[in-house]
Amino acid sequence: MGLKKVLNYYSKIDSSLPHFNFSSFEQLEGIVGGCLKTRSPIFVALSESEANFVGYDLAKKAVDYYRRKYNWTIYLNADHHKSLSSVKKVLEAGFDGVHIDLSEHSLDYNIKLTKKVVAMAKTYSSSISIEGELGKIGEGSYQRQNLSKNYTEISDVFKYLQQTGVDRLAVAVGSSHGMEKKIAKLDFDLLKKIQLRLLPGTSLTLHGASGVPDEQLKLARKYFSNIHFNTDLRLAFKKGLIKGISQSTIKPYQYFEPAIDEVEKRVEDRIKMLNSNNKEEIIKELL
Ligand code: G3H
Ligand code: ZN
Repeated sequence: MGLKKVLNYYSKIDSSLPHFNFSSFEQLEGIVGGCLKTRSPIFVALSESEANFVGYDLAKKAVDYYRRKYNWTIYLNADHHKSLSSVKKVLEAGFDGVHIDLSEHSLDYNIKLTKKVVAMAKTYSSSISIEGELGKIGEGSYQRQNLSKNYTEISDVFKYLQQTGVDRLAVAVGSSHGMEKKIAKLDFDLLKKIQLRLLPGTSLTLHGASGVPDEQLKLARKYFSNIHFNTDLRLAFKKGLIKGISQSTIKPYQYFEPAIDEVEKRVEDRIKMLNSNNKEEIIKELL
């Protein structure tokens, strides 16, 4: 069943589709393990750098393999893609979603190029879910201090959605990428106002969720159809890998085990935080 329908379902309930980045197959194994244990659908993704490292086709084949093996709802997204040429690689590989991130540019340029992406994507697939971005989400806790001036402008939302035709909108409302401590502060007043400006069939994406404290994530899941984690899993993977390589074994399939386990545990925990556990059967029945 289509990703757009699933996102539409999640946009209406107190739960979000969990979105996890990966840049190694061991991470993907841990992510899939965590979603199976909690019986949650998932959205997995690679940024441009992650996809260039893993390979677009290989990532797609790996996700297809898990989908078939477990008959599971797993979608593949291209996260933070920044040019028409990189989006082309995504479309050729057959991903389920693509995030075109032109938030560093002017609004006019952002709209102009995002529109082109939407048109190009439609020539490849009518079901692909396209995400655009408004406002600068930023990176790291230092920049978080100066984030408010980069928040999404409420007045841009309707115009952007109407003119670009994207399905999902990433917004800058207080989270930041790469935060190893949970010290973000989401602006829920702004979020409520943004939500009122959404078009039918469109929904919001939360980026930088690793730095968002749990009490805020519990509130955020009502507003966002999908919530993105990467740093959390990178930290878990590295912790497990350090444990693994401190053993005397030189066998990768042994020293990667603790890394996969750590990712799996973190994924289980985040899925429960987003209240997406036990949704796999519901999704299969509903859609
Ligand atoms: O695009 C990826 C996500 O927004 C990850 O954010 O660094 O907080 O895990 P994160
Ligand atoms: Zn992001």
